[in-house]
Amino acid sequence: MAQLTCHDLSLGYDGKTIIKGVNFSVHNGDYLFIVGENGSGKSTLMKTILNLHSPFEGSVVTGGGLKSTEIGYLPQQTAVQKDFPASVWEIVLSGCLNRCGLRPYYNRGEKQLARNNLEKMGIAHLAKQCFRELSGGQQQRVLLARALCATGKMLLLDEPVSGLDPKVTEEMYGLINKLNQGGITIIMISHDMSAALQYASHILHIGDPTFFGTREDYIENYINKDFSSFDGGVKA
Ligand SMILES: Nc1ncnc2c1ncn2[C@@H]1O[C@H](COP(=O)(O)OP(=O)(O)OP(=O)(O)O)[C@@H](O)[C@H]1O
Ligand SMILES: [Mg+2]
Repeated sequence: MAQLTCHDLSLGYDGKTIIKGVNFSVHNGDYLFIVGENGSGKSTLMKTILNLHSPFEGSVVTGGGLKSTEIGYLPQQTAVQKDFPASVWEIVLSGCLNRCGLRPYYNRGEKQLARNNLEKMGIAHLAKQCFRELSGGQQQRVLLARALCATGKMLLLDEPVSGLDPKVTEEMYGLINKLNQGGITIIMISHDMSAALQYASHILHIGDPTFFGTREDYIENYINKDFSSFDGGVKA
């Protein structure tokens, strides 16, 4: 059973449609790359999956033992977020917020989980540092550790390597790939087509036409094709 299914999603703002009639599904252990031009609606789609934005039409359904509160999220970074005046420890621990429910403090298990994820991301030594004093690559590791505190099941990553140099980009892809091989489903927005073709199990290309399918289907049926008779391949 699919962990996530998007049925006939149409999205936009203020009555203006940006994405129309998109269908796809994600299964346990998949690695989905979402690609498309600037402004095509990728971040809006991710926010819709997280219930932070309401679709004009269609639905997002979770299944296969995944609850919507068990999805970890690394948002697209803005200058304001990069300047956030909190410690690494506070930011990583805040990934446990959904686990607390109405309890107004973090318990021992949640603090241990945050410590484990700091170690997993190789940043335990930075715990006391202020987030805004870190390099871009260190900041992304902190945000990945935070997203991991929410879930061992599915991560939504909005351009996690944006602005990073090639070496740090490779390190991030390596970390994310390792998480995927450990069984975490990954949904990643990226403009990096060569990474998509290297790592993705599936690709959702938002555009005209929109495509959803396996990486192999994408290479065979989408890249360099004449779309006059293309049906989109966007079946869930
Ligand atoms: N809160 C908002 N209110 C109104 N319009 C918005 C809002 N957020 C985004 N938009 C518009 O919706 C469109 C899609 O934006 P979105 O951020 O989803 O695109 P994107 O594919 O993630 O782009 P990028 O690759 O630049 O990150 C854009 O035209 C954007 O200006
Ligand atoms: Mg975006």
